[in-house]
Amino acid sequence: MIRRLIGHIGFVAAAIIVSMWLMVASFAQTAPETPDAGASAAETPALVFPDRGPFNPEIIAIPQADMIAAWSRSAHADLSAEAFAHWNSEGEIPPQCAVCHSGAGFRALHGLDGSPVGMPEHPFPIGGVVDCETCHNPRLSEVKQITFPSGVSHPVVGVEAACMSCHQGRESGLSVVKATADMDEDTVNEKLRFINPHYRLAAATNLGDIAQVGYQYPGKDYSGRFLHAKPIGTCVSCHNPHSLEIAEEPCLTCHQTGNPDDIRIAHVSFDGSGDTSKGIKADIAANAAKLMETYLAYAANVAGTPMVFDGASYPYFFTDANLDGVADTDAQGKVVAYASWTPRLLKAVYNWKVVTADPGIHAHNPYYALELLYDSVEDLASADGMNVELGDMLR
Ligand code: HEC
Ligand code: HEC
Ligand code: HEC
Ligand code: HEC
Ligand code: HEC
Repeated sequence: MIRRLIGHIGFVAAAIIVSMWLMVASFAQTAPETPDAGASAAETPALVFPDRGPFNPEIIAIPQADMIAAWSRSAHADLSAEAFAHWNSEGEIPPQCAVCHSGAGFRALHGLDGSPVGMPEHPFPIGGVVDCETCHNPRLSEVKQITFPSGVSHPVVGVEAACMSCHQGRESGLSVVKATADMDEDTVNEKLRFINPHYRLAAATNLGDIAQVGYQYPGKDYSGRFLHAKPIGTCVSCHNPHSLEIAEEPCLTCHQTGNPDDIRIAHVSFDGSGDTSKGIKADIAANAAKLMETYLAYAANVAGTPMVFDGASYPYFFTDANLDGVADTDAQGKVVAYASWTPRLLKAVYNWKVVTADPGIHAHNPYYALELLYDSVEDLASADGMNVELGDMLR
C-alpha cells in the first residue's frame, strides 16, 4: 500500500517534470549546463494532467525516471519511517515539527507557498515526505540565509537552503549555556534535564564554530565550516540529491580510497593508538567511546548516581543505581530517566550526543568532532574525584 502510494506520488511528480526544467535552472551550483533545455521549457505550454491516469512508464517514457526511482527508494520518501509516521496517531503534524518533517511544512516556513515567511501557526496533514517540490521550488533560490538553533544566520546558495534548513538539529551549545548558567559545575541540580540536539544534524556540524551546535568550552578555539576542497563544496557534491547516497569514485580524485570509513588525511593519531592507517572515522569513534566511559564514571563517582545509555528509548540516559547495565524501573515499571545532572555532566553528554547524532561527521567536520570530544573528556577529568588519564589522546 505504502509502496503504491509512493509510486503514485512519484508519477504525479514525473508529470510535472517539464515545468521542472525551469526550476532546476535555479540551482546555482553544479547543475550541468543545458542551454537548449531551458529555452525549450520556456516555450512549452502549460500542460494539464488528470489526477490519476495511465502514467505507466512502460507505455509513456518518462525522462529522468531513474531520478524519481532513486528518490522513491530514499529515506526522504520513506513514509513509514518514524521521521514521517511519528504523528500518525495524532492525525496532524504540529507546525514546529512539520517544517522539517513534511514538504508542505518546509514550504510554509520559507513562504514558498505564498504564506508569510516564518514559523507557520497551523498544523499540517500527516503523510508528507521530503517531496520533489521541497527542493524543486522556483522560489527556493530566494532563500538567501538559514537561521540555526543558535540564532546565527548563515548565507546559502541553491539547494543547500533546503538541506541546511532541515539538517540543522534543534538545539545548540547555547541552550546548554543557558540551562546551566550560575550553577556550580559539580553540584547536582534537579532543574537540569538532558538536552537532545535532535538527529542527523549534518549541516550544523559542517558549520562547526559558525553554527555552534556543540557546547564549546570557554577559552578554547573551535573549527569553523569544514570547507573540504574544491570542487567539493556543498551537500550535493557528495550526496546524490535523490538517492542521498555517496558515490565513491569522485573521492578517488583526491583520496586513496573511495570508502568514506577508511579516508584519512591527518598524519597524527587523535585517539592515541598511534595507528594512522585507519580512517579518521575510527579516531572519532574511539574518542567518543572514551568520552562515554568518562561521563559514565563521572555520573557514578561525582554526580553520585550511575547512568546508562539506551539509544532506543527517549530520553536516552537513565538511572542504573544497581549497576546491572539496564535502566532502572520505578514501582509502576516505568524506566527512570536520569535526574542527577550536574552542569559539567550535561555539557559533556550533550557533546557526545551531538557527535554521535551525525553518522557522517567524519566527512562533515572531523576536526570539530575531535575538538568537542577532547574538551569534554578533559573537562570531566578535571573534576575532583575523577581518576582519568587523557593519555596520548589529541585535540
Ligand atoms: C532533497 C532535494 C531534492 C528532492 C527531494 C528532489 N530533487 Fe531533483 N534535484 C535536486 C538537485 C539538487 C538537483 C540538481 C542536481 C545537479 O546539480 O546535478 C536535482 C535535479 C533534478 C532533475 C534534473 C536533472 C538534470 O539532468 O539536470 C530532475 C528532472 C529532478 N531533479 C527531478 C526530481 C523529482 C521528479 C523529484 C521527486 C520525485 C525530485 N527531483 C526530488 C534535489 C532534489
Ligand atoms: C530543524 C528540522 C527539524 C525539526 C524542527 C524537527 N525535526 Fe525531527 N528530525 C529531523 C531530522 C533531519 C531527523 C532525522 C531523521 C532520521 O533520524 O533519520 C529527525 C528525526 C526525528 C524523529 C525520528 C528519530 C528516530 O529515532 O528515528 C522523531 C521522532 C522526530 N524527529 C520528532 C520531532 C518532533 C516531535 C519535532 C517537533 C517538536 C521535530 N522532530 C522537529 C529534523 C527536524
Ligand atoms: C524538509 C526537510 C528536509 C530537507 C529539505 C532535506 N532533508 Fe534530508 N532528511 C530529512 C528527514 C526528515 C530525513 C529522515 C528520513 C527518514 O528517516 O526516512 C532525512 C534523511 C536524510 C539522509 C539520510 C539518508 C539515510 O539513508 O538514512 C540524508 C543523507 C539526507 N537526508 C541528506 C539531505 C540532503 C543532502 C539534502 C539537501 C539536498 C536534504 N537531505 C534535504 C529532512 C530533510
Ligand atoms: C565530503 C562529502 C560530504 C559532504 C560535503 C556532505 N556529506 Fe553528508 N555524509 C557523507 C558521508 C561519508 C556520510 C556517512 C554515510 C555514508 O558513508 O554513506 C554522510 C552522512 C550524512 C547523513 C546521515 C546519513 C545516514 O546514513 O544516516 C546526513 C543526513 C547527511 N550526510 C547530510 C548532509 C548534509 C545536509 C550536507 C551539507 C550540509 C552533507 N551531508 C555534506 C559525506 C558528505
Ligand atoms: C578535490 C579533492 C577532494 C575530493 C574530490 C574529496 N576530498 Fe575529502 N578531503 C580533501 C582534502 C584536501 C581534505 C583535508 C581538508 C582539511 O583538512 O581541511 C579532505 C578531508 C576528508 C576527510 C577527513 C580526513 C581527515 O583525516 O581529516 C574525509 C572523511 C573526506 N575528506 C571524505 C571525502 C569523501 C567521502 C569524498 C567523496 C565523496 C571526498 N572526501 C572527496 C580533498 C578531497
